[in-house]
Amino acid sequence: MKKDFLWGGSTSAFQFEGGANEGGKGESIYDVISKSGEMQIGEVKFKTDADYSTTSDFYHHYKEDIALMAEMGFNGFRMSIAWTRIFPNGDDANYNEEGVKFYNSVFDELIKHGIQPVVTLFHWDMPQSLVERFDGWYGSETVDAFERYCKTCFEQFGDRVKYWLTLNENNLCKLLPCLQTKTKLKASDENFEEFKLKVYHNTNIAHFKAVKLCHEIVKDGKIGCMIASSIAYPMTSHPKDVFEATKHQQNKMYDYLDLLIKGKYNRRDIGEFDNINLTLYKDNSFVELASNDISKIDFISFSYYFSICMQSEENKSNENAATLQIMYQAYENPKLEKSSFGWTIDPLGLRIFMNDVYDRYNLPLLLVENGLGVEDDVLEADGTIHDPYRVEYLRQHINAVKDAVEIDHVDCFGFLPWGCIDLYSASGNKKKRYGFIYVDYDDNFKRYKKDSFYWYKEVIKSNGEKL
Ligand code: BG6
Repeated sequence: MKKDFLWGGSTSAFQFEGGANEGGKGESIYDVISKSGEMQIGEVKFKTDADYSTTSDFYHHYKEDIALMAEMGFNGFRMSIAWTRIFPNGDDANYNEEGVKFYNSVFDELIKHGIQPVVTLFHWDMPQSLVERFDGWYGSETVDAFERYCKTCFEQFGDRVKYWLTLNENNLCKLLPCLQTKTKLKASDENFEEFKLKVYHNTNIAHFKAVKLCHEIVKDGKIGCMIASSIAYPMTSHPKDVFEATKHQQNKMYDYLDLLIKGKYNRRDIGEFDNINLTLYKDNSFVELASNDISKIDFISFSYYFSICMQSEENKSNENAATLQIMYQAYENPKLEKSSFGWTIDPLGLRIFMNDVYDRYNLPLLLVENGLGVEDDVLEADGTIHDPYRVEYLRQHINAVKDAVEIDHVDCFGFLPWGCIDLYSASGNKKKRYGFIYVDYDDNFKRYKKDSFYWYKEVIKSNGEKL
């Protein structure tokens, strides 16, 4: 691996930071979820006991956490900025000085330890006030507010933060358009299509505006998108299954990347707009913004956890019909093992994806989420946590990245696995842990080093040689 390869870990503000009632922070949609104890992903509503207002309390532990990261040898750390810490209502007249001060301290601390911050501008924690007033991303006012928020971030932190990511996993926006809106629609609702495309279009304007601003304001700054990679295999060699798998990858990944990188919607997306006579994509200001070189990303960052199988309706066999991810309406791969959480383990899928995406766009890649999330970690009486399953998963996936880089000549400049210090799952589960460091939520957020901590330290020290 290259000498300056970024080794580290990854988090998001709403899942890791806590301190929701401090420092003048405003309410985000996750604070509302914590209060109500109810969450909705797509059309599925469920109860959650995850209190996102505290989570892992990075807000008060950041010095200790950054020291631990440095001890592991991190030279990169991905985090997100909570929009509501900078603008409590999303679009206040002035930024919240305490919020800016907090992130200044975090970035200073990271730089002091030789750790390059990689910052996501929007990791889903939409200000509740924008949801109430403008229906979140449905309203163009939210896009304007986002532009101002980004400008503030670049101006305040751009002297130290050189790697930026725009919207987390926004390739899934068309699948889950109501995640950050007040309006909750079912896919079968009459106006769903229009709502979905307006939300999607607005998030895309927001993305392009952020990229443009970053290039204008941050000296030597690099900015990328962040997508959820979703490698899909056909369940059988039947052409209909092959078609389903191809379609999935187009709809869920490549149509979106085509827009961001080529600067215009591809024919399938245009077809969707045309079907309901929406002409938004033809607006001059959008065309100009999207096609301008200054609005083009410098790299592609992505998450990778598992692969899926697709099959056509008529080829469905009961045997393989267990739904892996309801959201994707996908099927389990009978050839692969699963984690105790039910996600398939497929390191080769990671290498396949990296080759595919690099062949298509020829842009550097940054892996910003990967890892094993399980409920199996046990804090022993002597403060140890034995997690050989996590080491095995990561060993295989780091090997896949190495193969992609060293054998296939893919340009990938970092590996930042998810939840390097335990945090709450995005789907309301506080028992699912990914970290090298255990957080005791029942005892003052005390931190403990897992076995994987010592293993990852050696991996980093040897630049990926000692796995
Ligand atoms: C990604 C998100 O989709 O997957 C993270 O960017 C999330 O926010 C991660 O936490 C893992 O998913 P989960 O459900 O295990 O939290």
